[in-house]
Amino acid sequence: MSQRKRIKAVIPAAGLGTRFLPATKAMPKEMLPVVDKPAIQYVVEEAVTAGIDDVLIILGRNKNNISNHFDAVPELESNLEKKGDLEKLDRVKKSSDLGDIHYLRQGEPKGLGHAVLRSRSHVGDTTFAVLLGDDLIDARDPLLDRMLDQNEATGLTVVALMEVSPEQIHMYGAAAVEPTDDPDIVKVTGLVEKPKKEDAPSNYAIIGRYVLTPGVFDILERTEPGKGGEIQLTDALQELAETDGVYGVIFRGRRYDTGDRADYIKAIVQLAVDRDDLGVELRPWLKDFAAGL
Ligand code: UTP
Repeated sequence: MSQRKRIKAVIPAAGLGTRFLPATKAMPKEMLPVVDKPAIQYVVEEAVTAGIDDVLIILGRNKNNISNHFDAVPELESNLEKKGDLEKLDRVKKSSDLGDIHYLRQGEPKGLGHAVLRSRSHVGDTTFAVLLGDDLIDARDPLLDRMLDQNEATGLTVVALMEVSPEQIHMYGAAAVEPTDDPDIVKVTGLVEKPKKEDAPSNYAIIGRYVLTPGVFDILERTEPGKGGEIQLTDALQELAETDGVYGVIFRGRRYDTGDRADYIKAIVQLAVDRDDLGVELRPWLKDFAAGL
């Protein structure tokens, strides 16, 4: 765990979130509530649970929403304290007690690769983790820990991969892979951003968790805009796969892409029915509702 302490987490949250307009006109999509917490709080909690205590959030428009959320709000706390509402007080305090959170603006949203490059001065010359702020990994299905272990064992960059259907692969970066002795770990030999079904090297999609070696910064400095006119992290990873080498950890657990409207709704339903405080009421209602469809 002491090794982990030196690893910093970078959470890019500067995208335009156009799929969620107009909700994201004045609010980043990472602040959309998933049950009763904004998506990005789950992501910060995931980093903290993996032993990382230095988190840098890359902000875009409407930056104050995110930084305000992780700040303490003394008047709200004293109000809840006076009312004796300790359960809510505890929930409020948890959101402002998540370790050392730093912020940086991306300026223009020139792509995920550009957002990651902005973290260079904060991260320095060390391996770091990138967690996308709209991509939730269910806390019951650990992933980041396995990725950090693989990086510690090899010193190389590690990406998270998930098998998707051929119909979905065009929405992701797709990886060409070779097996290793471990069925959950592959060697990544190439990457293509958002390929057509027929051009995809496999159905392994890159999802929003990365453990990156600092060499990625030099590559990103000279990465030209790619798909969609954006500086793509996938393009830099392709170069790393050709040179140093990249591993993929295969994730078979529960993941929710809260930047996608249908997936966002599924995330809320799935997480809410499993909760002690909401499941009892929601489960029978959902059954009735589904029976009427
Ligand atoms: P997306 O590909 O989901 O893009 O970004 P987007 O622009 O935010 O959303 P849509 O497609 O318009 O709805 C993946 C992740 O990278 C971040 C986003 O905030 C998200 O966490 N990102 C993307 C940046 O931080 N900066 C960028 O310039 C682009």
